[in-house]
Amino acid sequence: MCGIVGYAGNRNARNVIVTGLRRLEYRGYDSAGIAELNSDNSAISLTRAVGKISDLATRLEQHPEESTPATLAVGHTRWATHGAPTENNAHPHMSQNGAFALVHNGIIENYLTLRQHLIQQGFSFNSETDSEVIVHLIEQCYEGDLTRAVAAALEQLQGTYGIAVISSHHPDTIVAARKGSPIVVGVCPTETIVASDISAIVQHTNQVIFLNDGDIVTATGEDIDIVSAANVPVARETTHIDWDVGEIEKGGYEHFMLKEIHEQPEAISNATRGRLLPKDGTTKLSGMQMTPADLAHIDRLLIAACGTSLYAGMVGEYLFEDFADISTEVHQAAEFRYRNPIIERDTCLIAISQSGETADTLAAVREAIRKGADVLGICNVVGSTIAREAGHGVYLHAGPEIGVASTKAFTCQVAVLALMAITAGRTRRLSLNAGTAMVREIERLPDLVRAVITQEEKIKQIAKNYAKAEDFFFLGRGYMYPAALEGALKLKEISYIHAEGYHAAELKHGPIALLCPEVPVVGLVPDIQGKDKTISNLQECAARKSPVIAIATEGDKEIEQHCNDVIYVPRCAEFLSPIPVVVAEQIFAYYIARERGCAIDQPRNLAKSVTVE
Ligand code: G6P
Repeated sequence: MCGIVGYAGNRNARNVIVTGLRRLEYRGYDSAGIAELNSDNSAISLTRAVGKISDLATRLEQHPEESTPATLAVGHTRWATHGAPTENNAHPHMSQNGAFALVHNGIIENYLTLRQHLIQQGFSFNSETDSEVIVHLIEQCYEGDLTRAVAAALEQLQGTYGIAVISSHHPDTIVAARKGSPIVVGVCPTETIVASDISAIVQHTNQVIFLNDGDIVTATGEDIDIVSAANVPVARETTHIDWDVGEIEKGGYEHFMLKEIHEQPEAISNATRGRLLPKDGTTKLSGMQMTPADLAHIDRLLIAACGTSLYAGMVGEYLFEDFADISTEVHQAAEFRYRNPIIERDTCLIAISQSGETADTLAAVREAIRKGADVLGICNVVGSTIAREAGHGVYLHAGPEIGVASTKAFTCQVAVLALMAITAGRTRRLSLNAGTAMVREIERLPDLVRAVITQEEKIKQIAKNYAKAEDFFFLGRGYMYPAALEGALKLKEISYIHAEGYHAAELKHGPIALLCPEVPVVGLVPDIQGKDKTISNLQECAARKSPVIAIATEGDKEIEQHCNDVIYVPRCAEFLSPIPVVVAEQIFAYYIARERGCAIDQPRNLAKSVTVE
């Protein structure tokens, strides 16, 4: 969603901000803007544009920089929530007296009341956003101390925010704060960069400070001071981030999504490296901080997640029930706190989130903690809010995922869930031999994924034949059911084709009415339990004249009689079968979207990290 970059130092701030905003493009946005303090510190100049960062850059060229470039600035990419994507609604927002500029991520729930109040006191508004109230409040509260003015304004807000503020009264200072929406501070010797995520920072420094909710940071090029909401100085540790700039660039690929599909063998190796103990038939996940006895005690598992992570969680449900006999329920994170999830002693919640910032998943974590559950996080982004609040868990180490459509995070999430299930299973009923065999299968995963990727050209040709379809079904049962949901999600996210993932057996309870020659069906039929039944379901589809594309195990020649096209994946153990199958689906969706000329890395309306409910 929205992105923030702020800079205080001695370099050309405009360059730092525009480059940083480009790094945040992947989050999804519809307008962008920058506020720069003029070199004589007399005023803040504002440039905003609807559309892409390139549109903003064009606008900036029309306002050539002064001979001495600004060294203090804030910038923003906006994903519209309150008010359409227009120039006036784009951030930064200025205070009425022009002395303060603000960028904001999050949602201010009581903004209408505050707005009415401010209007009565003579303030006028230039936008329909909830954010603009904050900058007017800062002006109203200002008595010479910028940090105190920000704190006093924030006290009046209900809702969530990550903000960054500059003022012409304080030419070398940037103030930023967070509650529910992340702010990271990049620590460099003579400059400070604040941002909503580390992608905008890693090119400048690997040393970062993650703010906690309630923190307010006041930074100049030299100093970084953090206070809590109660104005008490707090010490936050500096974290070393091991991402490098190369990892957040396309590296010769046409899209981040394609790069990330290709990175999966390496990403899975990283997610499993040092964690596999084949001789002991188990795995070592130190971050879980759980002894075998702790694992043996878990009575029930709840899994909460959104989007692709939710579907990885559904694979987890099969894994924990099959190998550890732990009753497992998967929850859409958005529902979790609005129902009455039953949490008893020895109930454990696993929150799965690539970004570690998804608002609904975070809310589920907090609700589970409030009700006394033990909470584990499976996150990719180190230091993210869910990773920190969960207290313990497992990092994916998949490297940065920039493409909005999640790819390598899914396969690594499933791999990590398999590791967890084996470890839990060994404390219950899995024998040493069974554990060893499973760990050995996991060791093969990078090669299995590589083998799917070598089919890319073939999958691309098949995809081209179906690129004009407007509806699709993906069918599977057992481990292939979540894989069907994920395949359909990938396709709709990036190609805008309406696609539904369905349990193969459920199709005849309604959706079969939609089948016709214009509606292709992707049948997930690798050699695993239930395959024959799914093949019967595919025959029912073919009988309704739907073209059928099968994803099947290499060497299965018989399947060719039941379908129009086959994508082959290598043979693998049933419990890992979603991984190669989903990789094939990712490539299929990618090439359909490419054929249709879609904006693959930044699909319309989507955001990489959904930080609002
Ligand atoms: C957004 C993204 C999806 C992602 C979901 C959950 O909707 O577009 O790709 O699966 O959020 O994100 P998380 O970071 O929590 O895994």
